[in-house]
Amino acid sequence: MEKYDAIIIGAGAAGLFCAAMAGQAGRRVLLLDNGKKPGRKILMSGGGRCNFTNLYIEPAAYLSQNRHFCKSALARYTQWDFIDLVGKHGIAWHEKTLGQLFCDDSAQQIVDMLVAECEKGQVTLRLRSEVLDVARDETGYTLQLNGETVSAEKLVIASGGLSMPGLGASPFGYKIAEQFGLKVLPTRAGLVPFTLHKPLLEQLQTLSGVSVPSVISAEDGTVFRENLLFTHRGLSGPAVLQISSYWQPGEFVTVNLVPDCDLQNFLDEQRAAHPNQSLKNTLAMQLPKRLVECLQLLGQIPDVSLKQLNSRDQQALVETLTAWRVQPNGTEGYRTAEVTLGGVDTNELSSRTMEARNVPGLYFIGEVVDVTGWLGGYNFQWAWASAWACAEAL
Ligand code: FDA
Repeated sequence: MEKYDAIIIGAGAAGLFCAAMAGQAGRRVLLLDNGKKPGRKILMSGGGRCNFTNLYIEPAAYLSQNRHFCKSALARYTQWDFIDLVGKHGIAWHEKTLGQLFCDDSAQQIVDMLVAECEKGQVTLRLRSEVLDVARDETGYTLQLNGETVSAEKLVIASGGLSMPGLGASPFGYKIAEQFGLKVLPTRAGLVPFTLHKPLLEQLQTLSGVSVPSVISAEDGTVFRENLLFTHRGLSGPAVLQISSYWQPGEFVTVNLVPDCDLQNFLDEQRAAHPNQSLKNTLAMQLPKRLVECLQLLGQIPDVSLKQLNSRDQQALVETLTAWRVQPNGTEGYRTAEVTLGGVDTNELSSRTMEARNVPGLYFIGEVVDVTGWLGGYNFQWAWASAWACAEAL
């Protein structure tokens, strides 16, 4: 039987980084993954360029039943530390928007960097490895793999969440948590497009592909200012992905489709200057033409000139465009979600080391834990930071 200091299950963002750091600190580390290559989600991320961190990392950008849990790890391994590492590997990057940092070239560079760091730490990486059984005794953990038995004093679960089963996502981490008596909070898809009820979807179907700047808010008061995209299934784009993490089934979201304009003033000014101009053409100065046409077909925009628009109708129109209330039918679910909300209850873990409070030697890092970030590099930063905190303790 092969013996290690630590076995890490999951060669994704958190597992690779944790293995590298622990290996470089002199630990004998075995890193296992059921896939045929490491870091599959990293490769898919950021449209193939990996949005690896964000300049504005702050605990408020993370959802968790315990909003304080992420603070310690995020403070000890920061975005600047990761940017430094990326720089040491000569990876060129740029800020796209809102502090989001992407590789200039390809996400493969981040995976190559993590694998190189693992090699530096003499980590044993074993791919296509199914973990059939995990047992614990006073000396540590023994794992039955397909065809062999391995053991270690410490076991780190870095198997991620449920989003994108096609990329190897599995409930493995939650099952291990339950096996050792840890509470797992209910999971749901996050950073995910909304689907719409059929009548509304049919009304909006001509808008598929139209993107507008928006301010979107959830019933709990959370607000994001980003682009909204109409799709053939419903609503997507960064605004919708962000708010989806704060939305509960049955709730409404409210959308301002003209966030950069005081519409009431704009219409008054235009009326004074061009009274005979059509309302439709006036609104097309602020909104995509296809959206204006669709709203006119739906009877939301009267077919009148500005001088014919009475103040009650103008008020109603402004209300429709600045506070459009939509009740999503649901989300596209784990198939397209970027992350999984919920997971291993943080009350079960030490925020310093990620070790289970009541199960010595068992650690949970990355997305399997009930810590979920906003869109924009926040989730990878949680993977790096939680991995680093754990590696320090191995
Ligand atoms: P991750 O999912 O990366 O790794 C888990 C690993 O465990 C996988 O390799 C899997 O194969 C393995 N595994 C699972 N079950 C196993 C088992 N039973 N046995 C062995 N191995 C097992 N975030 C961000 O900050 N910026 C971005 O640009 C993006 N972009 C993005 C795009 C897409 C399409 C998705 C789906 C997600 C993102 N994300 C993101 C989110 C980000 O990818 C995610 O939060 C991290 O990858 C989580 O890292 P983990 O290491 O925890 O899990």
